[in-house]
Amino acid sequence: MTSNLRLAAVNVRENAHAPYSKFKVGAAIRAASGTFFVGCNVENVAYPEGTCAEAGAIAAMVAAGETQLSEVYVVAGSDMPVTPCGGCRQKLAEFGAGDVVVTMATIGGVEQQTTLAELLPGAFGAAHMKG
Ligand code: THU
Repeated sequence: MTSNLRLAAVNVRENAHAPYSKFKVGAAIRAASGTFFVGCNVENVAYPEGTCAEAGAIAAMVAAGETQLSEVYVVAGSDMPVTPCGGCRQKLAEFGAGDVVVTMATIGGVEQQTTLAELLPGAFGAAHMKG
């Protein structure tokens, strides 16, 4: 399963639009139905308007009518496995349980696994808005 998710992330990374950072990222999500959704980073000359690979994959999943993710794979061309930024951690937590496995990887084949709960301890959630 994870190897297929890796292939999807590695392939979509090729389409990343990263002329400013030159740092291409690919993300693949396995949704609850088993369907894969992919995204790549899309940068913009107005730098803050750029979007992360994870955000693209999440948007594709939600646009297809799914709101539960079961596994996440993120890959970049760096020496160290790429770790989702703070904003993406919150975005992933919106659609995944704490025990969802997130694999962070390099194109070279280094892989590191963690969970959504480990990535975002003390996550802000709906419970914080009660009362
Ligand atoms: N980036 C992602 O797409 N995902 C991550 O997990 C980390 C960073 C992108 C944003 C930007 O286009 C480039 O990598 C450099 O920060």
